Amino acid sequence: MDSEKFSQGSQPLLDEPLDCGDEIGYAEESVWRRDANGTRRDDCRRLKIIILALSVAYIPFVVISLMLFIQHQSAQLLENVRPSGLFPSLASSHAIKYEQRHLPVRLHNNPFAGPPRPELDAAWHGLFEDIRINVTQQDLAYYNLTSIPLADGSGYAAELGVHHELHCLKKIRHWIHRDYYLKNETEEELVEWEAHIDHCMEMMRESIICRGDPSLTTFKWVAGDPPRLTAVALGHHQCVNWDSMMGWVRNRAVPIFQPGVLRLPEEI
Ligand SMILES: *[C@@H]1O[C@H](CO)[C@@H](O)[C@H](O)[C@H]1NC(C)=O
Ligand SMILES: *[C@@H]1O[C@H](CO)[C@@H](O)[C@H](O)[C@H]1NC(C)=O
Ligand SMILES: *[C@@H]1O[C@H](CO)[C@@H](O)[C@H](O)[C@H]1NC(C)=O
Repeated sequence: MDSEKFSQGSQPLLDEPLDCGDEIGYAEESVWRRDANGTRRDDCRRLKIIILALSVAYIPFVVISLMLFIQHQSAQLLENVRPSGLFPSLASSHAIKYEQRHLPVRLHNNPFAGPPRPELDAAWHGLFEDIRINVTQQDLAYYNLTSIPLADGSGYAAELGVHHELHCLKKIRHWIHRDYYLKNETEEELVEWEAHIDHCMEMMRESIICRGDPSLTTFKWVAGDPPRLTAVALGHHQCVNWDSMMGWVRNRAVPIFQPGVLRLPEEI
């Protein structure tokens, strides 16, 4: 603002109050005033223009402040809904979406359930395709973690916790059906397996308690003599949208078991 120019031109303002009211309503007076002092109407216009300019200049500040306020409020709201602790790449992807679902728990016509058979092995195998991913240094730093760098230096090898859990569940399945899956293992290897299964069971217990699924399980009577009490776990589970999350995972998949993908111990 050129304040010197303004005060020069509006010197009369200081002497007596300047009426910058409605020029139509006060047409007569304004005309008279112009006669009395030629600069008065110019001062009025200038003042009005300055006030208008200031008002207009203020609009972006108001808009930006409002936007920042709304953004802050909605971020706080999201923080309450979304479980915190997503590492930066996943958080910024918005691939983690929650939805309420019943779990069907089908035991028939379900390739994941039932006795060992090629169809079941293929279904379980599919759960572990393209699950090793490439994460950034910032993603690791978010949890204070380290991992093996990719050979080309473009990231680090990782996988999501959910896949570690699924791996453990698969191991437990193999242990239950060890006559089928582990019939070639030596005594020594089976001792190792048992320790691994213990680890997996404990991890699953801790994971289940960690999630603390707060859906309601109800009860019903099953006819009989005497009638039996049974639990009904339809659940309205808060579930991650699997396709959305796996879409993100598969986009970042790296075949870490292929030679040359990971930096070797001597190169780290
Ligand atoms: C991060 O990890 C390092 C080594 O793994 C450890 O010494 C350090 O205390 C950790 N820092 C935090 C903040 O957890
Ligand atoms: C790893 O991710 C980065 C982006 O973070 C990408 O530029 C790079 O190509 C990825 N590397 C591999 C081997 O997929
Ligand atoms: C056990 O070994 C036999 C003979 O080498 C092989 O045909 C079979 O596939 C193996 N079974 C398992 C579960 O690894």
